[in-house]
Amino acid sequence: MTDLRTLPKAELHLHIEGTLEPELAFSLARRNGVLLPFADIDDLRARYDFTDLQSFLDLYYSCMTALRTARDFEELAVAYLERAAAEGVRHVEMFFDPQVHAANGVPVDVVIDGLRAGLRTAADRFDMTGGLIVCIVRDQPVTSAEALLDEIAPRAHEILGIGLDSAEVGYPPSLFEGVFRRAAELGLHRVAHAGEEGPAAYVWEALRELEVERVDHGIRSVDDPDLIAHLAEHRVPLTVCPLSNVRLRAVPDLAAHPLRRLVEAGVVVTINSDDPSYFGGYIGDNYAAVASLGFDTTELAQLAENSIEASFADAARKAALIAEIRAWAASA
Ligand code: ADE
Ligand code: ZN
Repeated sequence: MTDLRTLPKAELHLHIEGTLEPELAFSLARRNGVLLPFADIDDLRARYDFTDLQSFLDLYYSCMTALRTARDFEELAVAYLERAAAEGVRHVEMFFDPQVHAANGVPVDVVIDGLRAGLRTAADRFDMTGGLIVCIVRDQPVTSAEALLDEIAPRAHEILGIGLDSAEVGYPPSLFEGVFRRAAELGLHRVAHAGEEGPAAYVWEALRELEVERVDHGIRSVDDPDLIAHLAEHRVPLTVCPLSNVRLRAVPDLAAHPLRRLVEAGVVVTINSDDPSYFGGYIGDNYAAVASLGFDTTELAQLAENSIEASFADAARKAALIAEIRAWAASA
């Protein structure tokens, strides 16, 4: 098998806070005078044994208390972007959770400043493009999401889009219809996590009520043949995260992952890492996992092309990156 780290690709489902490695979490906590509720790095890593989405989120939000300054967010982003560049990522659309940082006393402007500085470094050093997607934490009140939108409105031109994440079941997309309508008026792209642990009905809601352009995860769509047909016909991309789904037990094991069924139904599937520090693998490992399911070089290159097509990069950048992928495939 050719080296999949050299395959040019976009990463479209990546929570920047989910790239926080334990070593960096402890060093930032020390610098900021924050006491993490773990004895040490080994103790923290020993807790990376998740039973479901919520068991992960509890740990994830607790590690996020280490992040306080624009410099912290810039260092976090650069550490990820450097690693992603080495794994062939040429374009990245990065999620972040401002409501969680606000609860830690960190204003959204500080987070945006730090992450944008990191993206500028990646543009200069690695010729990487990308942007930020503000995620609404769906288990916080809708009024909190509305207030966040007010805060970011003056900086909407510095942000690519709005997303929806955190605990899914019990928090249907329809709750955020007004928030997403307003985001669209601000010129933001719209995406949402749906059908990770929640039902296919949540994917329909995200499409019909939030008018999302992509669905994050969306793997439960396989339970609804009409939905699969709709996604394929309208070329609505799914940002699938195979290792995440295994680690959070959204699927029993990799072999049971519905990826092959989705691809065969004609859905525009992309491969991503979600929260790579926590789920045992960055994007290269996720492509390797897909290869282990029997996807050949041509199919893997198609998945990479899908990631470019599904991105919010401009047309010229998309054409250039697709040409890079085709050159890779021709020489693979
Ligand atoms: N936030 C970070 N990772 C997430 C995931 N996999 N699902 C929902 N919210 C998240
Ligand atoms: Zn996610």
